[in-house]
Amino acid sequence: MKGIILAGGLGTRLYPLTKVTNKHLLPVYDRPMIYYPIETLVKSGIRDILIVTGGNNAGDFLKLIGNGKQFGLKHINYTYQEGEGGIAHALSLAEHFADGKKIVVILGDNICEANISSYVQSFRKQPDGARILLKKVPDPERFGVATIRGSRITKIVEKPKKPESAYAVTGIYMYDKSVFEFIKTLKPSRRGELEITDVNNWYLKRGAMEFDVLPGYWTDAGTFESLFRANALVARHKGVGRS
Ligand code: DAU
Repeated sequence: MKGIILAGGLGTRLYPLTKVTNKHLLPVYDRPMIYYPIETLVKSGIRDILIVTGGNNAGDFLKLIGNGKQFGLKHINYTYQEGEGGIAHALSLAEHFADGKKIVVILGDNICEANISSYVQSFRKQPDGARILLKKVPDPERFGVATIRGSRITKIVEKPKKPESAYAVTGIYMYDKSVFEFIKTLKPSRRGELEITDVNNWYLKRGAMEFDVLPGYWTDAGTFESLFRANALVARHKGVGRS
């Protein structure tokens, strides 16, 4: 399976930290943020990876990561998203790379403790459709939120004022090849973006969406608070501060 890391966008919520660099190059404890999603994919056995970058200093990704030798890779692919058209827009730039195969997508600001290989394996066995990973969080209103009835998700709402559950949709998504044709039909949301939640709801309506709940810690790192939390989680996991 191929892996796609979405590290475009302008990181405006972290301004001025993102004034002269790209959000995904900021430190999360002892590594740049982008290392974490790369490691999540590599640990799950995915070796064919595309990074969609954008915004400021995109060339620094090449300087930092090169061909991915530090991750045991021989080669990494890159492409560039102009502006901030949304997560689904960034994903649309990967159509050529995906080449009709199933894909695993991860957002460049997602930090996840768990090894996702068993979920990737389940998706390999799934004949088609999509698979997402959920995580129970204390602040679901910041995320896409899944309503679950029995063993099925019935709907996903992007950043609801009154969340119907505590299950956030994490930024780890698995799609079959039909995702690219659907994205072509999407219209920008009120915030002017092609929304990944619209993509997920399309799979849901067709009864083609499976899910798992992530163990371990998971966080995004796109706001001051969550970036701080990401640093603390990684540091704590490494035993920092324990005497
Ligand atoms: O972290 C999980 C959440 O990510 C999900 O629960 C939400 O459903 C999903 O919409 C997203 O929410 P955010 O508002 O936190 O997404 P954000 O705009 O911060 O973008 C997250 C990453 O996606 C960012 O680090 C890079 C990538 N991205 C984003 C945009 C807007 C792109 O590659 N291009 C873009 O245009």
